[in-house]
Amino acid sequence: MSRIADSQTPRRKKESVLSLQKKKVTGEKISMTTCYDATFAKLINKSSIDMVLVGDSLGNVMMGHKNTLKVTVDDMITYGASVARSLDQAFLVIDMPFMSYNITTEKTLENAHKIISSTGAQALKLEGGRAICSQVSALVSAGIPVMGHLGLTPQSINTIGGYKVQGRGNEAAQRMLEDAKALENAGVFSLVLEMVPADLARDIAKSLKIPVIGIGAGPSCDGQVLVLQDLLGMDDGFEPKFLKTYARLSEMIVTALNTYSDEVKDNSFPTKDHSFQ
Ligand code: KIV
Repeated sequence: MSRIADSQTPRRKKESVLSLQKKKVTGEKISMTTCYDATFAKLINKSSIDMVLVGDSLGNVMMGHKNTLKVTVDDMITYGASVARSLDQAFLVIDMPFMSYNITTEKTLENAHKIISSTGAQALKLEGGRAICSQVSALVSAGIPVMGHLGLTPQSINTIGGYKVQGRGNEAAQRMLEDAKALENAGVFSLVLEMVPADLARDIAKSLKIPVIGIGAGPSCDGQVLVLQDLLGMDDGFEPKFLKTYARLSEMIVTALNTYSDEVKDNSFPTKDHSFQ
């Protein structure tokens, strides 16, 4: 018995690098969310979400770490494969974790190959600008689509010193614009901008041919990404300015758990209807 119908006719064609890039040309905005498991992947199949990211934010959301630095290639494979096994139409991107690509090109290719071949992801995402362009070019030359990530790059938390807006001031803004152009020249098919002033994000999106996906980067990006558990309101204490919650699942879940617990304790569950004769 399937818990969530998993054999439905696909509602639309699988998204691809080309279909996503076409949306930039036609002006259709791209919706993206993170996902780390099969249950949510099946629910995403019933939605109109275009792109799914198995982000290394799973270190925080799924593994309870304080940041993303402890996430390994094997962790990304475990969660990435769980999503890939169930995801239908949305385009699947998996993050390369900390220190899996900030090393030699040979090791970068080896790690990338391991993630792609073990999961079936369509693309990988790497954090950083000009410093990682040689790795980006090598991956793209090997046939692996790469998504860039600039602005707040959580893998650099110990360098940037906190989860704060990046690219403020002319010099920092110019640096980010040049990093974005360098990544595009190196072959990234799309770029995430995280916690960047809206005007800078608009200028970067305008100056690139590839889709720019924002998180805390204002309304002028070509698409938006949010962490799934955040947009569903599952973490009461997490309320950054850029977040909009579209449901209050934490309340619903706690209420359901308490009702279940009460019914077990007062013997109203299970009834005859839930029992085998
Ligand atoms: O790891 C992640 O979830 C991300 C998104 C916030 C873009 O990189």
